Amino acid sequence: MAAAALLAAALGGGLLLIARRYLSGAGRASRSAAAALMRGKTVIVTGANSGLGRATAAELLRLQARVILGCRDRGRAEQAAREIRAELGAQAEGGELVIRELDLASLRSVRSFCQRVLQEEPKLDVLINNAGIFQCPYMKTEDGFEMQFGVNHLGHFLLTNLLLGLLKSSAPSRIVVVSSKLYKYGEINFEDLNSEISYNKSFGYSRSKLANILFTRELARRLEGTGVTVNVLHPGIVRTNLGRYVNIPLLAKPLFNLVSWAFFKTPLEGAQTSIYLASSAEVEGVSGKYFGDCKEEELLPKAMDDLVARKLWDISEVMVGLLK
Ligand SMILES: NC(=O)c1ccc[n+]([C@@H]2O[C@H](COP(=O)([O-])OP(=O)(O)OC[C@H]3O[C@@H](n4cnc5c(N)ncnc54)[C@H](OP(=O)(O)O)[C@@H]3O)[C@@H](O)[C@H]2O)c1
Repeated sequence: MAAAALLAAALGGGLLLIARRYLSGAGRASRSAAAALMRGKTVIVTGANSGLGRATAAELLRLQARVILGCRDRGRAEQAAREIRAELGAQAEGGELVIRELDLASLRSVRSFCQRVLQEEPKLDVLINNAGIFQCPYMKTEDGFEMQFGVNHLGHFLLTNLLLGLLKSSAPSRIVVVSSKLYKYGEINFEDLNSEISYNKSFGYSRSKLANILFTRELARRLEGTGVTVNVLHPGIVRTNLGRYVNIPLLAKPLFNLVSWAFFKTPLEGAQTSIYLASSAEVEGVSGKYFGDCKEEELLPKAMDDLVARKLWDISEVMVGLLK
């Protein structure tokens, strides 16, 4: 009986997998056809050595962009770059991969990354704030911020602000922010942004992803009329290394792997909305919007609270030292 149920589940999962692959593959082909040629465009992708960032960087390279991989570990970035070039072969010709060290858990590192970009790059067409950390135990960044809020929100907040001048002088240009549907479970608790009173790793992640959306909407307001757009997305559930801090019991691992193979997106499938927002002519001039599966989606009221967004912006400016 149990064996029959397992077999039925495996067969059902297999059929679902084939159907999903077929449908998402078809979507990808049409999206790629619609994607504007990125030849000659300079793009920064943070966290580009793994998962969604790696897939995004590879696809933009295939579209002949100059892709700057902003990564905290040079060895992992070099390995990813080698693998991407090997996978693409002749399709990588015309584009360029450049590695630059960027640790979003260190404001010093963010500043020196930006300083180098500003010195070396005459223009910046797209910034993709992709790097992220998920449900880690309580840890602090170099500057004493709770890690998930520090990396996912504050590091990218400083990065974007320091690169805004270059993005403006390169207009039309785009900023793409990778958030998550889990923002729905977050709140911006201004009285404990460093989670010193209490820390819950799930809430910490959701809060940082809500902050990504509030940041995007406030930035879009500030960028009106500049030719720089900023949009935010959720990628869906994707099979990446994001769950490295999640403990799955040894016995449950095979089942988890089966389920993830059947139901989670591949990194390339998950990266489609980032690629779309970075490169498609369809979203030219569109700003301050939330996307999933390459389509605009609605937000909960908590993510559209302009007063909270402004307050978060002001506090973030002080936290990262942009405003004394
Ligand atoms: N996977 C999903 O189902 C899912 C769902 C919703 C949203 N997202 C979002 O998608 C984005 C990409 O995640 P992923 O799923 O591709 O996970 P991933 O495979 O773990 O990739 C995350 C990337 O972020 C980098 N990173 C982490 N901390 C960093 C730091 N301090 N400085 C610079 N880079 C850092 C990682 O570098 P190392 O390799 O050196 O650690 C890695 O390159 C994240 O923002 C995540 O929140 C993912």
